[in-house]
Formats: sequence, C-alpha cells, structure tokens
Amino acid sequence: MPALSLEQVRNLCMRRGFVFPGSAAYGGLGSFWDYGPLGVEMLNNIKQAWWHDAVYERDDMEGVDAAILMSRKVWQHSGHEATFSDPLVDCKACKSRFRADHVPLPPIGDPLREEVRRHAASNGAGGEPAVWPTRWDGEELVVSDETGDRRFSEDDQRRVGLVHKLIPCPKCNEFDWTEPRNFNLMFQSHVGPVAAAAGTDEEKAARVYMRPETAQGIFMNFAHVQRSMARKVPFGIAQIGKAFRNEITPGNFIFRTREFEQMEIEFFIKPEQYVQEGEKTDEQWHQEWIDRRFHWWLKLATPPSAGNQEMEEIEQRFRKRAQTADELAHYAKATTDIEYLFPGSLGWGEIEGVANRTDFDLTAHSKDIPEDDLKRLKLEDNKDSNEKFDYFDPDAKKRYVPWVIEPSAGVTRAMLTFLCEAYDEEFVKEPSKQDIDQIKSDAAMIKNNAEKKIKQAEKDIAAGKEAKHDPVQVREFLDKLEDVVTRLPESLSEVLLTLDHPGAQNLEPVKKFRPPTEKFMDEISRTVLRLHPRLAPIKLAVFPLKKNNAGLVELAQKIQRTFQKRFRTIYDDSAGIGKLYRRQDEIGTPYCITVDFESLEDGTVTVRERDTMSQERVPVDTLHDYLLPRLELG
Ligand code: GAP
Repeated sequence: MPALSLEQVRNLCMRRGFVFPGSAAYGGLGSFWDYGPLGVEMLNNIKQAWWHDAVYERDDMEGVDAAILMSRKVWQHSGHEATFSDPLVDCKACKSRFRADHVPLPPIGDPLREEVRRHAASNGAGGEPAVWPTRWDGEELVVSDETGDRRFSEDDQRRVGLVHKLIPCPKCNEFDWTEPRNFNLMFQSHVGPVAAAAGTDEEKAARVYMRPETAQGIFMNFAHVQRSMARKVPFGIAQIGKAFRNEITPGNFIFRTREFEQMEIEFFIKPEQYVQEGEKTDEQWHQEWIDRRFHWWLKLATPPSAGNQEMEEIEQRFRKRAQTADELAHYAKATTDIEYLFPGSLGWGEIEGVANRTDFDLTAHSKDIPEDDLKRLKLEDNKDSNEKFDYFDPDAKKRYVPWVIEPSAGVTRAMLTFLCEAYDEEFVKEPSKQDIDQIKSDAAMIKNNAEKKIKQAEKDIAAGKEAKHDPVQVREFLDKLEDVVTRLPESLSEVLLTLDHPGAQNLEPVKKFRPPTEKFMDEISRTVLRLHPRLAPIKLAVFPLKKNNAGLVELAQKIQRTFQKRFRTIYDDSAGIGKLYRRQDEIGTPYCITVDFESLEDGTVTVRERDTMSQERVPVDTLHDYLLPRLELG
C-alpha cells in the first residue's frame, strides 16, 4: 500500500532526515527545502539511476553540465522572456495571491459551492463545471466539464464578468479578485555591479535569469558536442541540474517548489521530410522514448520483493497521458506526460513530459533561417546569434536543422513519487479484540467531548464571541474518526493520521489518547519504505547483538568497514535489535546484518531482508557475493 497522504511522507522526511524546511531558523522561505543526510543520498541515487539509463546504457548519448546563468538572449529567443508566465490574481479582501487557473472550487457539500453555481449561471457561463477554471491557452480560458472543452476568448471573459470572479477566495470566501495579470516566473539577477534602475538599458544589459529549465543549456551546446564528439544524428545530450521558477502557488511539499532539479534529454533526429525507408520516423523515436522513460519509472518504483499482484497495482498508479491539441505548445507535434497518482487531493500529477518539439528550439537560436521556416514556427529573424544550428547529414547528403525529442523529468519530484509509492505501514502482530474495543471506547469519549465543544463554539459564534474551536473543522474531524472507527480493524493504520486533522487540535481527550495509541501502534505495526535498493539512501546496516561485547562489536564494525568502500552503510548499537530493525525499515534500508555469538564460533551472520523480514545465516566471507546482486549494484 502506498502512502495515504502527503502528510505521512512529509512527517517521515522531516523526522528521519530526508527533507528539512529551508532557512528554518529565520522562519523559512516560501517553499524552499533543504535535503538532509538521507535526502541527498536518495537524490544522488535517482540521478545515478537516470544517468546510467540515459547515457551509459546507450551508444547514442553524451552528457553536459552547462552554466546555470546564460546570456539573457537565450531566454529572449527561446520565448521565455515574453511568455514564460502564469496568470496571477489577488484577493482584494484578504490580499492572498493565487495562480488564477489554480484557484480551487469549494469542496462538494460546502454551501459556497452553490454560490459558485449561482454566480456562474447569472454570468452566463452556464452552471457548475467539473473542473473550474481549467487553464489558459494564450488569451483564451479553457473550461472542461463532462460535455467537453468550452473556450472563452478575452471578449467572452469580459462578457461574463471574467470567469475567475466566479470562484470565492479559498482563504476568506470573498468574491473580490483583481484582474488576472501575467507574472513571469523567471528569477532575475545581474552580472557585475549594477546601480541602474530596473528597466533602463544599463540594467537590461546586465540582467540574467536563473534558468527555469536545463534544456536551453543543451541547445546552446548542440554544435559543440556534435563536433567535438564527432556525433552523427540521431544522437542525444543529457543534463541534470538545478532549475528555478518563481511559482505563484508552490506547494504539496516538494511537488512544486521554486528551486528544484531536472533531468533532461534532448534527442536530435532527422526532420520528417528527410527520413528514408527503413529509418525511424520522429513519431517512432517519440514513442520509443515515451516507453523507455515509462519503463524506468516503473522499474524503480517496484521493489524486487513485489509479487505479480503488487506489480499490477503499482502499474495502475502510473500512466501516460497524451496532451490534447489545446494543451500543446504551437510548435510541438505531440507531448505525452507521464503521471503518478499521488495520495490525497493532489491526485494525478505530471512527473515527466516527453515532447516532440520539431526544429523549433535549434531554429529559434539560429541566424540566417529562411523566411518560410520562421513563418511556420512563428519566430522572428534571430539577429543576435552568430551560429546556425544546422547539420550536414553525410548519408542523406542534406543540410538541415535537426528535430528534437525531449524527455524532461524532475529529480525532486521523482523523490516524492518514489517515497509516496514506497511508503507502507503494516502489521507485524494481529491486534486483539480487546485492543480494538479499547480504541472504539476512546473514540466514543473523544466524540462526546467534541460534540460539547461544537455546541459551545456555535453558541460563542452566535453571541459574537471568539470561539475556542472551529465547529466546522471539529465536525469534519468527527466524521473522519467515525468513518475510521466503523472500518476497524482494517483501518487501524489510519487512526493516528485522523488525529492530525486540524479539527482535533486542542481537544483534551485527543491529547490523552495519542501517546498510548502511538505506543500500541509501535508494538503491532511498522513503517517501511519499500524502496528499490538502487534508490535506498542506506544499503546496509550492521549491528552487534550486544554492544558491550568486544568480539561482537569488532566483527560488526569490520563488516561495515568492508562494505563502506562500495556504498553507504551504517553501524548501529544504540538500541535492541528489534528497534534497530524498525529504524532501518522506516528509511528503506534493504538489508541488515546482525552479528551474534554464533558468528564468533562459525563465521556466519544473520542477514535480514526489509520487505519480507526473512532472515538467513550467511558466511561472512560470502557476504559480498550474497549482497551485491540483491542490491543490484554489480
Ligand atoms: N524543458 C521542458 C520542461 O522544463 P516542464 O514540464 O516545465 O518541462 C519538466 O518540466 C519536469 O520538471 C516536470 O515534469 C516536473 O517533474 C519538473 N518540474 C517542473 N516544475 C517544477 C517545480 N516547480 N517543482 C518541482 N519540479 C518541477
């Protein structure tokens, strides 16, 4: 079972050193995160697995590592300076700021939802859509519901009183929005000391942007790599690196952040008009990359212990989704997004896009492009570039600007994906009927108390006084608790999660109930990250059965030091063996070794596997051959 909520993953990440809030001592900085000791290992493992698959295992790939800061002209000619923006709206009442196309509808059942329907009807937009609003396509607003897409031109939007005004502010419920305005997502800085005011020629001449994608660094190096490595088209270039976007609404933990990392490939191919019989077409290359990348995600999301049924279930949480004509960039022939079904309200989210970008990018950065091509790609003549990114194909005896297939994935988003998929809580002991009855009776006590608090809060609110509790939130919490209690014992792993609901805060019986429940859950269940061994931050943990026995400690440390040279291992003797196993399960360590008294006599140790918890006696001198293939490291 994957994570049931992003909260579970986020709590684990903070508790165990995967991810910390950035600049925490100063109250944090909006959606910037630091990756801790285990997080950095996992990110490195993801990048290594990707690089291996994208570069080492192919004959037609090279790598680069371009500078983060590039000439402003790169972003002018790529189109980012003019169009890399999102529509922004402000709530005039509470000053909250949102991406206009991300303002969520009030939840089903909320009376405000009715209000939205009325506003929509009275403004001529025609009832409540399933998803509202969907997105902007250029200046058009596209709204999707079960009947299909409805497009609102700028005039339509004006006519219906600007559609975004139909949705209340999710923070204060007012309908008082500013007009949407385009907000460029690139962070700016300057090269060298600049005192000139923003917008002046001097300021603009020194201006640089923190790259919002790594791709442009690859395009800039197309000719360098092709010539220096004597490459023939088709070939590709891979790059991993940081990217920055001043997102209007970052969030969902590390799903959407303002600083993140990307793993991108630009694979250069023959334009469709020059493809000869027997050669792969652009469509075939595109499909090949979609399939290869999809396979990579599935392979690394599946632990070796998974049986057929689990494999099927994992596969159902990944999908390929072809972008509709409305979503496609004007120059792209086709794009397929790879999506993962994240827990909770996040739902299906893009983790990688695989695009057929035709010859747009290399043409955009080239001088001396014929008028017809400029027209076809809606590009201006590039008078700044001193390069023409074309290529003489010795087989076709033709000179052309190559087309490009672009698989583009996020490293940090990949980490969230693999953590959500690997997260599991399972029982190691069957709870008794008595245990379940105890939880039910505690829940009844909480319910009694909470009902009183709701009544009191409603009275206070009616009398214009400040209420100690939010009655709506407490009611929501009670509904959740009731749902979990009626599904016991199957829902046992959700009990503690329910107590994290904001409506449960400051309820005295909840405070009393939590510590013994945590202790009980600790005894009967374990949290385990079923990470693929290649992604696990720590591959092996070694424990002595007793920390005060010199012989056990010495052998355990010797084993740990041997493997330390190959991969990340730890030695731990700070608790009993059971507890040490649990700690490693929680961070996804695939194998633990325990050195006991038998080890000193016969030279064997216990090797315990994380997912099945099976244990095997293995001679110390064969550990290397035992572990390496299982860790898929050699
Ligand atoms: N060069 C194409 C490009 O950048 P994109 O769809 O904007 O395409 C590619 O980004 C991938 O980068 C996404 O699928 C996602 O995994 C990751 N990504 C994009 N914006 C992100 C953000 N704000 N935070 C984390 N990851 C992000």
